[in-house]
Amino acid sequence: MNHPLEQLRDDALREIEAASDEQALEATRIKYLGKSGSISAWGEQMKTLGKEERPVVGRLLNETRNAVTVAIEKRAEILRSQKESVALAGIDISLPGVTVPSAYSGYCSIALTGYSGYLPLERGSRHPLTQMLQRSIQIFHRMGFSLADGPDIEDEWHCFDALNTPADHPARNEQDTFYLPDGRLLRTHTSTVQIRTMESAPPPIRVIAPGAAYRRDEIDATHSAQFHQIEGLYVDENVSVADLKGALEFFLRELFGSETEIQFRPHYFPFTEPSLEVYVRSKALKGGERWIELAGCGMVHPAVFEAVNTARGDKAYDPEKWSGYAFGLGMDRLAMILFDIPDIRLFAQNDLRFLKQFA
Ligand code: DAH
Repeated sequence: MNHPLEQLRDDALREIEAASDEQALEATRIKYLGKSGSISAWGEQMKTLGKEERPVVGRLLNETRNAVTVAIEKRAEILRSQKESVALAGIDISLPGVTVPSAYSGYCSIALTGYSGYLPLERGSRHPLTQMLQRSIQIFHRMGFSLADGPDIEDEWHCFDALNTPADHPARNEQDTFYLPDGRLLRTHTSTVQIRTMESAPPPIRVIAPGAAYRRDEIDATHSAQFHQIEGLYVDENVSVADLKGALEFFLRELFGSETEIQFRPHYFPFTEPSLEVYVRSKALKGGERWIELAGCGMVHPAVFEAVNTARGDKAYDPEKWSGYAFGLGMDRLAMILFDIPDIRLFAQNDLRFLKQFA
């Protein structure tokens, strides 16, 4: 026959299992384990038992108390997680969030709408220049170009001297460029990365370097003190102008469509010989009926290779053996004609009414 304690334990476990909420469970706990609960009452009864019975019943009592305590903890945990699931099921995660405007003082759309209550958090999107950059990188990537990088704050050597740009060149004018007190400057073009790339690796080279460039321009609809370029550099044996033209034509037609017309017009850059400017015209582009200048390019000047050799202390870029082409594409201009953006200043004004159009 079962000891009454065992019966008590079974009853308790059954009731614990049946407890449907935290209150019912707590009532069960008090009934069995509370000060005057039935298991506690057995503790009192122990004193009345004989010497032989006491250790047996004592062990049974301990086991019962432990089993009931553990069962209550387990049941409590189950009830807690059930309650949580029910609460979570009531949340509609597709609803937009809310935010307190004071945490967003200066947040544009609040200022624009004059709204002073709660505003839903809005989904962001990539800046049109970033979109442009990603599309461009993807195309060059398919052509085998990898990414190179260099600092925005440069020295005159990487920005000018190594690029065969003499001290009296107008680009070096203090009015043209932002100089730091220590003589360094904000790079006026990404061509600096050509030099940095060749300094750090021998030919062959096939890289593009997207990044910001800076000029002390009068700011207007087409000029900004900070703008963006993609520099390209390809150095190998027997590279020709035909390679250069082929690469840029492919890139521009991938970007603007196969019907895009492309012209290469003779130009002058100190670091290329010959030098060319690239113009495009395409019916697919709004305002694209006219020719638009998009890039400078040319064959790397031997003096540039020699400057790199001097810096490297070797003859890795022997102009007799290696030739190459380089180009610099104006990203802002590219994005402006692709997205039909009338004013370069829009890129930096952070006006959500503008940015939202590219979501
Ligand atoms: N660095 C020139 C500029 O900012 C653009 C350029 C022209 C880059 C010819 C080149 C190049 O790599 O070969 O106006």
